[in-house]
Amino acid sequence: TTIKIYETVDSTNSEAKRLKVNKSMNEGLIIAKEQTAGKGRRGKNWTSVKDEGIWASLVLVPDIAPTIASMLTLIAGMSAAMAIEDRTGLEVGIKWPNDLVISGKKVCGILTEMSTEADYINHVVVGIGINVNQTFFEEPLEAIATSLKIELGREVNRVEILTTFLNHFETLYEKFLKIMDLSFMIDKYNSMCVNVDQELRIIEHGATKQATGIKVTDQGGLMVRNKEGNTEIIYAGDVSIR
Ligand code: BTN
Repeated sequence: TTIKIYETVDSTNSEAKRLKVNKSMNEGLIIAKEQTAGKGRRGKNWTSVKDEGIWASLVLVPDIAPTIASMLTLIAGMSAAMAIEDRTGLEVGIKWPNDLVISGKKVCGILTEMSTEADYINHVVVGIGINVNQTFFEEPLEAIATSLKIELGREVNRVEILTTFLNHFETLYEKFLKIMDLSFMIDKYNSMCVNVDQELRIIEHGATKQATGIKVTDQGGLMVRNKEGNTEIIYAGDVSIR
């Protein structure tokens, strides 16, 4: 396993992909103290101020079908939620599929990118950003983002959060590779999921519809009841929910 720590990098996900393309690593972990072009989902940028958060990417080469690799995102989200709860006692909610929220504001985001060929995976990069010691966020983030320090009123040790996250991730990842679904953790995931029993606006290809969250399934989809009273399962990637 390769572990690389950078003072500054554009994006740990981008760096991880470069290292894979050069064949400079197999599996491992890329950590940066600062990112100058941190990436969020849907082409957004991710503010990654020096030393204030955990900016890291796991590089994995799992022998699994590309169709189930998206479940790794949920595993990473739950591992981070458990690490934050263990280390701070704060109550963390998971906004499906993988945003972590505290008091309704986002504290952690995950960006999974993979390289696939036909039916197999070359590699998966699971990028994780945790807001740890920021004392404020500039507009427009102020209304929607928070940090562990803001919520707790004290500094939080980033190394402790990261190592606890890695321990949880390893345990869950090994179980997942045996079972190939999320059944072993889905009850806990659902107990932390803020979308269960919630009225949702689901945005799919620009069209918005309303539904009620029911639960997240063993395959990582969100089961909802639509306005006609029918259940359907939606998958991340296709949709955005508010
Ligand atoms: C989101 O939009 O919620 C996902 C944010 C992911 C941010 C992390 S920080 C480390 C890794 N490198 C990146 O460029 N992005 C991810």
